[in-house]
Amino acid sequence: MNVLVTGGAGYIGSVVVEVLVERGYRVTVFDDLSQGHFAAVSPAATFHEGSLADRSAVDGLLASDRFDAVMHFASKSLVGESMSDPFLYFSQNVGYGIGLIESATKNGVKRFVLSSTANLFGEAERMPIDESERVAPGSPYGETKHVLERVLHWAEVCCGMRSACLRYFNAAGATTTLGEDHDPETHLIPIVLDVAAGRRANLKIFGNDYATADGTCVRDYIHVADLATAHVAALDAISDRSVRFNLGSGTGSSVLDVIRTVEEVTGRTVDCEFAPRRHGDPAVLIASSDAIRRELGWQPGRSDLRTIIEDAWAWRSRHPDGYGNQRPLDVVT
Ligand code: UFG
Repeated sequence: MNVLVTGGAGYIGSVVVEVLVERGYRVTVFDDLSQGHFAAVSPAATFHEGSLADRSAVDGLLASDRFDAVMHFASKSLVGESMSDPFLYFSQNVGYGIGLIESATKNGVKRFVLSSTANLFGEAERMPIDESERVAPGSPYGETKHVLERVLHWAEVCCGMRSACLRYFNAAGATTTLGEDHDPETHLIPIVLDVAAGRRANLKIFGNDYATADGTCVRDYIHVADLATAHVAALDAISDRSVRFNLGSGTGSSVLDVIRTVEEVTGRTVDCEFAPRRHGDPAVLIASSDAIRRELGWQPGRSDLRTIIEDAWAWRSRHPDGYGNQRPLDVVT
């Protein structure tokens, strides 16, 4: 199968590319390297540096080859940032995303996998959250993914394109070669690891007055390697139907649980202090992934919190500066 992966140089996209290549798929990565890293792209994939804002580049690429599927990871993805700059999220995630879907349908692509989010559910009514939960996005970011899910629904009805919308909870962890390297970093686990490693002075815990057992927010952390196998299973499954799945481990961990586990894994103390709540953070997000387990036989293998943190720590210890600033030297543009 010939697959175009947008955002294939990013944290989750690069791990999905790694698994696709291992399994013999032909992969082309399209990424503007604004958040991703050239060094994270599998050498077995063809790399095109470019932006989804450049519609003629997107159209040209999709017309230049016969792609069986598009997997779309390239997007802005920070809940807090979307609360302070909602229009950036609507113009980029929605605007560029619709352009990509339109171009894919016009060029005969029949499968589309969307990187969606648990933020679709905001403050959910039932926990764990399954696919029957009412969609009520918790932020402009979540709303942008909801819009793209609806566009894909109509792309199927009107143009016959099948899609998989994968709503992930909190992606974390690393493979032996690929890990998390954002600039700036806002995610909990890499920040706590940086404090443990002495690269940051301390951690601010955003809120200790939530209605949870220890007062801090609870999240469902899912290993990026398990996310990747779910993507490939979904890609294979959508030959004749579309799917929507929630993806998590089914277990909730509080901010304090994460800190304690990092201290156990690293043998170091994490200096932290309580700070005000962060705008847009729901108290608890835990996924029910029963549907994808049942329908596609997917099983997470590394998504217990300790394994996630051990893997993230191992990668970070081998890459103390992340991917560095390596730029493409000899790539197709
Ligand atoms: N947190 C802190 N201090 C920090 C960073 C985070 O206390 O310095 C807390 C947050 O308040 C939150 C938890 O740690 O309660 C996890 O925060 P992250 O920033 O790691 O992740 P989010 O839950 O905010 O968001 C992530 C992805 C989103 C996705 C969401 C879905 O970044 O794209 O999971 O659950 F929408």
